[in-house]
Amino acid sequence: MQLRDNGLRFSPITVALHWVVAFSLLAIFGLQLLIDNAASAASQLEFGRLQNLLGLILFLVSSYRFWARITSYHPLPVGTPNPIEVIISRSVAVSLALAMVLLPIAVWASRCAAGQVVELPGGWWIPSLLPVNESLRHVVDVLFNIGASAFLAGLALHIFGAVKNHFLLKNNTLKRMLGKHVEL
Ligand code: HEM
Repeated sequence: MQLRDNGLRFSPITVALHWVVAFSLLAIFGLQLLIDNAASAASQLEFGRLQNLLGLILFLVSSYRFWARITSYHPLPVGTPNPIEVIISRSVAVSLALAMVLLPIAVWASRCAAGQVVELPGGWWIPSLLPVNESLRHVVDVLFNIGASAFLAGLALHIFGAVKNHFLLKNNTLKRMLGKHVEL
């Protein structure tokens, strides 16, 4: 099995982890809706634990992905896109991978600084290594809000690019990220 991306194609690991991240993120947003509308504090806590677990998975998977992305070749683009678009789309993709490492750290740091335990299902938890400190929490929250806004803008651009390639340019960019073998 091809373990790393090369100039011709994404590895199956890249393709699988890309969608693991996309669906984990979607599940985290879905759980937030459930938390906001939960009938009891107990179910709110249970959804929160599940959300923390997904955040931890996102962090671990994205740490590997970010390392793999910057240490291997990015496959050549499908078709003949404008080089500026290629540079922008690749920079956005790398920034998205990095954001998925930094944003979960910011959530954990904010909870530690607020004196909250980051609980996981099954009675597990993530250790709090930072001091309880209101000003630290405030700084981390401001950084998180800036980072999260930039991330959402980048994600919107990324999805717009995928939709444009698929429906407007009618090329195999999206199908390649869904595992289709594309000859370049
Ligand atoms: C509906 C959601 C998404 C769609 C349709 C989508 C689509 C795509 C496509 C088509 C590519 C291949 C681009 C190319 O050929 O160069 C790609 C690559 C990439 N995408 Fe997404 N994407 C989505 C969500 C995400 C999310 C949530 C992240 C990260 C937070 C992400 C990060 C990346 C990265 C880093 C790459 C480069 C390849 C890699 O290292 O995995 N994408 N995406």
